[in-house]
Amino acid sequence: MSSIFDGGPISETLSLIDPRYRAGLETVGVIFVAIWLIATTLNPILEFFLRVWRVVLWIRRQLLRAWRRLFPPPPPPPEPRIEAAPIPEEKTIWETRAPAQPTFPKENGIPIITVANMKGGVGKTTIVANLAPYFRARFGKPVLLIDFDYQGSLTQTIRTEAGYTDPDLTAHILISPNYAGEKPMTFAREMRRSLEDIFIYTANYPFATIENNLLADWLQSPASDLMYRLCALLQRSEFQSKFGAVLIDCPPRLTAGSINALCGSTHLLVPSSLDDMSAQAAEYFLNQVSRMKANVFPSLKVIGVVPSIIYSESRYLVGEGRALDRLKRYGEKVWKRENFVLEDGRVPRRADISNSSGQGVPYLRRAAVKQIFDRLGTDIEERMKARL
Ligand SMILES: Nc1ncnc2c1ncn2[C@@H]1O[C@H](COP(=O)(O)OP(=O)(O)OP(=O)(O)O)[C@@H](O)[C@H]1O
Ligand SMILES: [Mg+2]
Repeated sequence: MSSIFDGGPISETLSLIDPRYRAGLETVGVIFVAIWLIATTLNPILEFFLRVWRVVLWIRRQLLRAWRRLFPPPPPPPEPRIEAAPIPEEKTIWETRAPAQPTFPKENGIPIITVANMKGGVGKTTIVANLAPYFRARFGKPVLLIDFDYQGSLTQTIRTEAGYTDPDLTAHILISPNYAGEKPMTFAREMRRSLEDIFIYTANYPFATIENNLLADWLQSPASDLMYRLCALLQRSEFQSKFGAVLIDCPPRLTAGSINALCGSTHLLVPSSLDDMSAQAAEYFLNQVSRMKANVFPSLKVIGVVPSIIYSESRYLVGEGRALDRLKRYGEKVWKRENFVLEDGRVPRRADISNSSGQGVPYLRRAAVKQIFDRLGTDIEERMKARL
């Protein structure tokens, strides 16, 4: 059978191939050549139509533009005016009533430091737990911890470190009138096994119910001063002489425990993560503190905001830098302080810290963690000495 490949080099090559496959190969070759011929012939025709199509689209666009210029669409109807919801002037329940028998911490008493912020998860409990051994070493006297957070994270952290696993609740003793006759000191648990000289009043979920009931009682009987019960106790000589410092951990809410902490403390430390939302939350809380300070806890001194769980010790991320500047400007404007942010005491994010969440105090085991909280403790001490 003759083929288009007869004669010439292709024919010679094909003659080397097994005759059984040669016919098939020749057919494939013929199809390939046919497709190639059709494509090269059709290509200029397709390109021509494509150009024509582009010109048609361009003319259509120009006509539409001209049409819109001549007959512009009617403006959209105005947005209906939405009235802003009336928000009453903010006043917490603790400001609604003038204190009956306020008690304030003594000027020359032991440091009582509340660690608080309305924002959750910013490292409040971590800071209290890891500062406890720092202050124990610095003052050479026992340190008292008070867990006023019904979540009981500080309690769990400290008790697990000392080898206790069962939940415990004693913090209510400090703010309840029922125990006035008892010796409150007997309820402070010493964490003897590995946290010698660290005492704690513990918290647990029922504490939230106890706080609510105390608030209800207080609202019904104006004579009792729920807000100052802790203060009155901590000013007693048995507390003042036994302890070198008191550290109080608060929940992210202005509870009965939190208000007792603010009224009974000499100092307030506000941890904050460095992002816009956390900075905004810290400012909101500090505005509340500023508003209540004059009437409710006039002797409280604000140490400042400590940047917490930040990305790195050596440099700030762009967003962190922005939040830091915002907090500094806020401190200058509202608190008239240039050193309102404790930059030297900043707490970076560390795996050793998050891994031991609720499981113990990494300050005692990890040199790098100890260094972080030693620096924070030093920064706090310097500010306390500098009379805020
Ligand atoms: N510097 C840090 N590095 C790594 N993880 C941290 C650090 N600080 C805190 N964390 C982790 O972040 C979580 C929240 O911390 P922590 O419980 O101290 O915050 P909090 O402000 O007390 O929260 P809450 O408002 O719920 O009481 C925990 O899991 C803790 O281990
Ligand atoms: Mg906490």
